[in-house]
Amino acid sequence: MRLTILGGGGFRVPLVYGALLADHAPGRVTEVTLHDVDAERLRAINGVLREQATDVPDAPAVRATTDLDEALRGADFVFSAIRVGGLAGRAADEQVALAEGVLGQETVGAGGIAYGLRTVPVAVHIARRVKEVAPDAWVINFTNPAGLVTEAMSRHLGDRVIGICDSPVGLGRRVARVLGADPADAWVDYVGLNHLGWLRGLRVHGRDELPRLLADEKLLGSFEEGRLFGTDWLRSIGAIPNEYLHYYYFNRETVRAYREAERTRGAFLADQQSAFYAAPSWASWDRTRAEREATYMAHNREASGAGERDAADLEESGGYEKVALALMRAIARDERATLILNVRNRRTLAALDEDAVIEVPCLVDANGAHPVAVDPLPLHATGLVTAVKAVEREVLAAAESGSRATAVKAFALHPLVDSVTVADRLVDGYLGAHSGLAYLSRGGRRKDV
Ligand code: G6P
Ligand code: MN
Repeated sequence: MRLTILGGGGFRVPLVYGALLADHAPGRVTEVTLHDVDAERLRAINGVLREQATDVPDAPAVRATTDLDEALRGADFVFSAIRVGGLAGRAADEQVALAEGVLGQETVGAGGIAYGLRTVPVAVHIARRVKEVAPDAWVINFTNPAGLVTEAMSRHLGDRVIGICDSPVGLGRRVARVLGADPADAWVDYVGLNHLGWLRGLRVHGRDELPRLLADEKLLGSFEEGRLFGTDWLRSIGAIPNEYLHYYYFNRETVRAYREAERTRGAFLADQQSAFYAAPSWASWDRTRAEREATYMAHNREASGAGERDAADLEESGGYEKVALALMRAIARDERATLILNVRNRRTLAALDEDAVIEVPCLVDANGAHPVAVDPLPLHATGLVTAVKAVEREVLAAAESGSRATAVKAFALHPLVDSVTVADRLVDGYLGAHSGLAYLSRGGRRKDV
């Protein structure tokens, strides 16, 4: 089994390789090809993987290349985890928005739109190459904004691209644990878009345990989302939102906290990682990772008074490599599994069309990911989901046409951007910050990437 990792010089690749090293079952991945546009980062991560593989006799073979077609040829699975523009790009996404007084964040609000506008053309190029060079490969997309990027790729690859995120599984695990249930026994009733979903129930042995949690003030206030959103608000909406909904429900507070912060998350990670890539080693990778996890969503927790993260959460945080591996296993070995994934809607949410990529529990087997039927979302959640999907569609349209006006429309329609004038200035700000957005000339057409 051959796995190709796009963004192979990325900081999280050792997590994926670590999960592969622990898999000794038949049908496991035996060859890994790392691809990256940055040869130096590729060399650094290659070296870390070599250290990881020491004393593991059946460690998957690793090779690295900067040639995309060469990386894709012969792949059974393509794992796409790229960061167009790098962490400097992320920091600029955050900074330009915050300077306008709106949320600057990796995937949500104006920052997420800018990131999407930069990433979609590259993701489409990759999808086209996969179709040409490795048409039978399954593509697992972790590239953010994951829902939008998966939808862009699915226009070329159909259901052979599946988007993943670790946040719904983390949420399900926390809710199960606080209820004293084994996460493996729980059916998590969760649906929405990526980073915009709600857990509406958690069924164990045929019984929904969520009402018990909502009714118990002490229990509800004892875990991450209870502290982040406040118990009253969780009871008001009768569901546990994805942590990224903090940016919607507490927009003012997070914008203020982010503006007052010394550095944005992207700037912090950029500093941290330039130190790591200057002298890469397994030990310094592990230290850097621990520090990164300890500071995850720190400003949101500060803004809400939620305090420190739980020790159990810190130990287990991330987990996207586990989702990726579980997905690969279910497809490659036809071992049926239920996973929360980003796939085409079909008829799951009535307010969206069939091709809209949503995040929903799916049954996975050798034929891919099949979304399960879920209860409809309440009106306020449907409103947010349709508003954000409309924004995503404008981003896809702008990436295709190169129209500046369409890009302005994408920003202006977002629920966290409160003025068309601001949207217009944001486009100017991002055009100044990112050479990768030069294709958005007034009414001009984008040259193919
Ligand atoms: C979670 C989300 C990812 C996101 C990451 C950001 O894992 O699911 O989509 O990229 O957090 O973490 P970072 O440490 O980069 O701020
Ligand atoms: Mn995610």
